[in-house]
Amino acid sequence: MTLVTSKEIVTKALAGHYAVGAFNAVNMETAQAIIGAGVAENSPLIMQVTQTTLNYTDPEELAALMKVLVDRVNIPVALHLDHGRTFEVVMKFLRLGFTSVMIDGSLQPDGKTPRTYEENVEVTRKVVEAAHAIGVTVEGELGTLGQIGEEITDASGALTDPNQAARFVEDTGVDMLAVSIGTTHGLYRGTPFIDVERVKAISDKVGIPLVMHGGSFTPDEDVRAAIRFGIAKVNIDTNIRVAFFEAVRDCIVKIEAEHEEADRAGVPRKYDIRKILQPARTAMQAVIEDRIRVFGSSGKAE
Ligand code: G3H
Ligand code: ZN
Repeated sequence: MTLVTSKEIVTKALAGHYAVGAFNAVNMETAQAIIGAGVAENSPLIMQVTQTTLNYTDPEELAALMKVLVDRVNIPVALHLDHGRTFEVVMKFLRLGFTSVMIDGSLQPDGKTPRTYEENVEVTRKVVEAAHAIGVTVEGELGTLGQIGEEITDASGALTDPNQAARFVEDTGVDMLAVSIGTTHGLYRGTPFIDVERVKAISDKVGIPLVMHGGSFTPDEDVRAAIRFGIAKVNIDTNIRVAFFEAVRDCIVKIEAEHEEADRAGVPRKYDIRKILQPARTAMQAVIEDRIRVFGSSGKAE
């Protein structure tokens, strides 16, 4: 049983100048790929479920599966709610036994409209009080992250201000802070400008582990620089999704060729879901292992 809080593992990461990958799970295969990669790299892990996954599957079922997987390995794993938008949703995941939660107080519950600083502090402080009462780590967010393809620049006023970050951490008591530094969720249109100097300025002011959202397809040299300057948790979802889709596409092409062959030979076609999901799981695990190596947490599962 190696279920830990994310504070335990990201605090070590910050001190050791590496980052822990936080990988989004939505089903059995993604969860297995994440755990399999952590074991293969002997790395601490954060396995996370984002609030929107509530629209896809029952969180109780997913949480039960994730706990079984964690129970069977000897690496430290935190179960984390990603982008929780309301106090009520966070409470749901605390009841599920998650050891870490994010209250994304930068946006209203619609996930689009920005909250004011005061509204962000109010909801974040409420979550911190409840979560800390039972020893669960809290990640807050200040500054708004770009959505898919959106370019985030200083002019947009979305980037995290170091002085306001210090005030926010003081006002809320969060354990980790998600910051807006130029990354965006999903695929980028071009090459993003990642403000690593801003990471350093924020880290110098707040002194707690910082979180990079939108880690997928962010240039490795920027990710490594940001880790050097204070990022200790890097969120990855789209890398996993792309690996899944590309593996499934290749499988479908192969299976359709086998079906044409069967039709020509006058024999029945074969259908086996595992012939698609197994290669997809392997491809997802390979991508996650690669990210773990870039973040520098390989071999750190002491
Ligand atoms: O919260 C999850 C991450 O921020 C996902 O970002 O899909 O760009 O890796 P990504
Ligand atoms: Zn995110």
